[in-house]
Amino acid sequence: MDFGIFGSILVLSMFFKPLTCQQPNTDAFFVSEFWKKMNFTSSLHQNFSAPVCSWEGVHCDAHENVLQLVASGYGLSGSIPDTTIGKLTKLQILDLSNNRIIALPSDFWSLGSLTTLNLSSNKIFGSLANNIGNFGLLETFDLSNNNFSGEIPAAISSLSRLRVLKLDRNGFEGRIPLEILNCQSLTYIDISLNKLDGSLPDGFGAAFPELKTLNLAGNKIKGRDLDFSQMKSITSLNISGNLFHGSVTGVFLKTLEVIDLSRNQFQGHISQVEFNSSYKCFDLIYLDMSENQLSGDIFPYLKQTQNLKYLNLAFNRFARQEFPRIDLLWNIEYLNLSRTSLIGHIPSEIAQLSKLHTLDLSKNHLTGKIPLLHTKNLQILDVSHNNLSGQIPLPLLQRLKSMERFNFSYNNLTLCSSGFSIETLQKQFYGSLNNCPIAVNPDIFKRTATKHKGIKLALALALSIVGLLFLAIYCIRKSRTHLVKQTSFREEQNIPGPFSFRTDSTTWVADIKLATSVPVVIFEKPLLNITFADLLSATSSFDRGTLLAEGKFGPVYRGFLFCGIHVAVKVLVRGSTLTDQEAARELEYLGRIKHPNLVPLTGYCIAGDQRIALYDYMEYGNLQNLLHDLPLGVQTTEDWSTDTWEEDNDNDIQNVGSERLLTTWRFRHKIALGTARALAFLHHGCSPPLIHRDVKASSIYLDYNLEPRLSDFGLTKVFGNGLDEEIARGSPGYVPPEFSDPDNNYPTPKSDVYCFGVVLLELITGKKPVGDDYPEDKDASLVSWVRGLVRKNQGPRAIDSKIHDTGPEHEMEEALKIAYLCTADIPSKRPSMQQIVGLLKDIESADHH
Ligand SMILES: *[C@@H]1O[C@H](CO)[C@@H](O)[C@H](O)[C@H]1NC(C)=O
Ligand SMILES: *[C@@H]1O[C@H](CO)[C@@H](O)[C@H](O)[C@H]1NC(C)=O
Ligand SMILES: *[C@@H]1O[C@H](CO)[C@@H](O)[C@H](O)[C@H]1NC(C)=O
Ligand SMILES: *[C@@H]1O[C@H](CO)[C@@H](O)[C@H](O)[C@H]1NC(C)=O
Ligand SMILES: *[C@@H]1O[C@H](CO)[C@@H](O)[C@H](O)[C@H]1NC(C)=O
Ligand SMILES: *[C@@H]1O[C@H](CO)[C@@H](O)[C@H](O)[C@H]1NC(C)=O
Ligand SMILES: *[C@@H]1O[C@H](CO)[C@@H](O)[C@H](O)[C@H]1NC(C)=O
Ligand SMILES: *[C@@H]1O[C@H](CO)[C@@H](O)[C@H](O)[C@H]1NC(C)=O
Ligand SMILES: *[C@@H]1O[C@H](CO)[C@@H](O)[C@H](O)[C@H]1NC(C)=O
Ligand SMILES: *[C@@H]1O[C@H](CO)[C@@H](O)[C@H](O)[C@H]1NC(C)=O
Repeated sequence: MDFGIFGSILVLSMFFKPLTCQQPNTDAFFVSEFWKKMNFTSSLHQNFSAPVCSWEGVHCDAHENVLQLVASGYGLSGSIPDTTIGKLTKLQILDLSNNRIIALPSDFWSLGSLTTLNLSSNKIFGSLANNIGNFGLLETFDLSNNNFSGEIPAAISSLSRLRVLKLDRNGFEGRIPLEILNCQSLTYIDISLNKLDGSLPDGFGAAFPELKTLNLAGNKIKGRDLDFSQMKSITSLNISGNLFHGSVTGVFLKTLEVIDLSRNQFQGHISQVEFNSSYKCFDLIYLDMSENQLSGDIFPYLKQTQNLKYLNLAFNRFARQEFPRIDLLWNIEYLNLSRTSLIGHIPSEIAQLSKLHTLDLSKNHLTGKIPLLHTKNLQILDVSHNNLSGQIPLPLLQRLKSMERFNFSYNNLTLCSSGFSIETLQKQFYGSLNNCPIAVNPDIFKRTATKHKGIKLALALALSIVGLLFLAIYCIRKSRTHLVKQTSFREEQNIPGPFSFRTDSTTWVADIKLATSVPVVIFEKPLLNITFADLLSATSSFDRGTLLAEGKFGPVYRGFLFCGIHVAVKVLVRGSTLTDQEAARELEYLGRIKHPNLVPLTGYCIAGDQRIALYDYMEYGNLQNLLHDLPLGVQTTEDWSTDTWEEDNDNDIQNVGSERLLTTWRFRHKIALGTARALAFLHHGCSPPLIHRDVKASSIYLDYNLEPRLSDFGLTKVFGNGLDEEIARGSPGYVPPEFSDPDNNYPTPKSDVYCFGVVLLELITGKKPVGDDYPEDKDASLVSWVRGLVRKNQGPRAIDSKIHDTGPEHEMEEALKIAYLCTADIPSKRPSMQQIVGLLKDIESADHH
């Protein structure tokens, strides 16, 4: 026999020995019988050799009558047998809560001296016998959390001293008996979570002058607001989840601190409450009116409720309205305005709610940006299903990871995140644009204030170069631990990584051990032994002073490699599907695509997770900057005829300031033709054809020779069909009409043609594709405006007045017609890039004759 079992039997027999020695028919005997038969074996804190009356939880009077028996959580199980505690005739306090008792003995109801009975949290089933009427002295009656069923007996009327009645979490059925109105001493009633139905008995409100807490929640009780209007002392009213209906105004009694009316059928306007001068809600702490059918406006009186900590008005039928004024709710911790028909902006005053723990504004029609929030205590935030836009404020984004729950889904928000899992992005940010400049970007949260804005802008205007190829479909990365190394590498380049480089908005990290161990491939000079360390020194460790631009797809730095190569160094957004080998192969391939009108890829470097592309440096920046961002309207004092510009035999234009140059028709034509040649080469000279997908003014650069060069080609190859929809659709003003058909927005050479047409229009008119001033056609785009004029034979009116006198008007008109063809609604009506090159050349040669 196992000694453990033997031992416990030994202990048991020792322990029951004194129990069995009690004199029969004494209280001590009944109690020890009770322990024995209820399998009470816990001898931990008891001295069972002592007399019963000295046991913990047992109190006797001088004659060894047991007055109190407190056995909460003693592990008692089963049915209580007769002739045990039912015979403790003097018993006043009985607490058997938190056991596993399943039934009461039949002699239980004779305990006529009881003042406190606590049987809560057992498994007692069956109905409550009518002989509870015997408990005439009972003050506290707690049967909560059992399995009682049947009606609440009418005999409850005998319990005239009852103060606390807890019958919650059982299966009581039927109506609340009228007889309960006799229990006028009640201060606390909780009969929530039963199966009670019917109406409240008449006179219910007036019957309990001392009642402070009433909880009827989770039944099927019918009633109206006025049922409670006579209650004089009530501080907490919970009728959640019943069938109450009508107006709510009568519920707002001035003594109330807690009101829970949620999940009923209340109707009408809550704004009426304000006009009831008898009600001042200074004491209100908790107000839940969610899931009713309230209409009209949300109360304007919220300013009086300065102690309010909890406010839930969700899921009602309020009228469309602006956000209520909430700035005086200093103490609010929980604010739920989900589905309350809110429109307009979230007010910035919300930032003053410093105790806010939960904020639910989901399922409204809110627009505008998410304002700053006081995030110190914020744990739950739901703004899903609105029409919010813009960036999620950074302090909030930073806080999210330590929050319990958040949901930004179904809005029009933008974020840049690398630390969230794909799952999080899909569930909590569904429909948001994860528009990171780069994939691996763990330090987005370390964003610092912009310091070099002036320099940056100037540089960007004059010199900016934009890339490229790698766009992230979603910049999703499993969060990884990246250490940011702030040390400068200027002095020592052999110290181990990871290496970070900062721009104004972000920090990138190349997670490699040793900068000298990572090669930089320069296509033309394969024997050069250049490493990432050289790139670090060429860019002064990616110093912000060398930052040319912060493109959508990554920052671009200017660098002089020691071998005299002047490059634009572009840190690329990582295409999430490419391995290092695939990326290298792709870059090698793109490096072989050469054309006088394409920005050449000089080389690349794969440094850990970072893919870095090296481009020939473009001296004069891009067309977007030159055409729209510089003050071209500024008149020069010099006369055109004496200007320094002239054409040499090669048709090259030299020695000219780019601003002035740009305001000549000849030069604009040259840009158009060069760009057309580049595209014709991509479409017809490459196999398979390369569709550019993002032809626009800012993709066209001018090299040292002022030759136009198209950049950003190769997207198709790198991303195939998985390209992010937004990028595939192109930039604003450059989106072909066929893309508005969701089934047919697959880029084709003809969609490039359309975009080229828009660029051509920009060159001729000097106007931006969207958002510019189009005379007589305020809401138009450039395309619709010009096409309208051409159709009316008024094309010449669209011509940029600055170039008007610098060339023959018929040439410009001819070019307008080409642009008209390119921007045809139906793709098949647009000419091919090869034809366009011919047409543009024809303009020129016609003039030379
Ligand atoms: C238990 O009670 C008996 C009888 O009153 C006493 O002799 C003994 O010392 C008590 N034991 C302890 C551990 O208190
Ligand atoms: C007490 O325990 C024994 C053995 O574990 C069991 O047979 C008996 O039914 C239990 N009594 C009650 C009242 O649960
Ligand atoms: C009954 O006992 C439980 C558990 O010990 C306790 O939480 C509850 O407050 C008691 N009921 C009353 C009315 O005191
Ligand atoms: C409650 O009692 C009913 C019988 O009255 C029984 O069917 C049910 O299983 C019991 N529920 C629990 C949780 O004990
Ligand atoms: C109202 O009672 C229900 C059911 O017991 C509970 O879930 C809810 O939290 C209560 N409301 C308040 C304000 O205590
Ligand atoms: C204002 O409230 C009192 C009870 O507090 C009620 O008797 C009266 O009818 C209410 N007046 C209105 C206009 O709702
Ligand atoms: C807001 O209230 C609605 C309706 O009661 C509920 O479904 C939702 O869970 C609440 N939101 C939060 C964050 O508690
Ligand atoms: C969201 O806002 C846009 C314009 O701001 C509007 O066209 C659209 O109807 C709005 N959507 C909803 C669901 O309110
Ligand atoms: C989404 O936001 C972008 C700008 O942030 C705006 O151009 C677009 O119209 C918005 N879409 C909707 C449906 O509101
Ligand atoms: C976020 O909200 C949307 C819409 O309300 C819902 O479909 C989605 O399940 C929610 N996500 C999470 C993680 O709660």
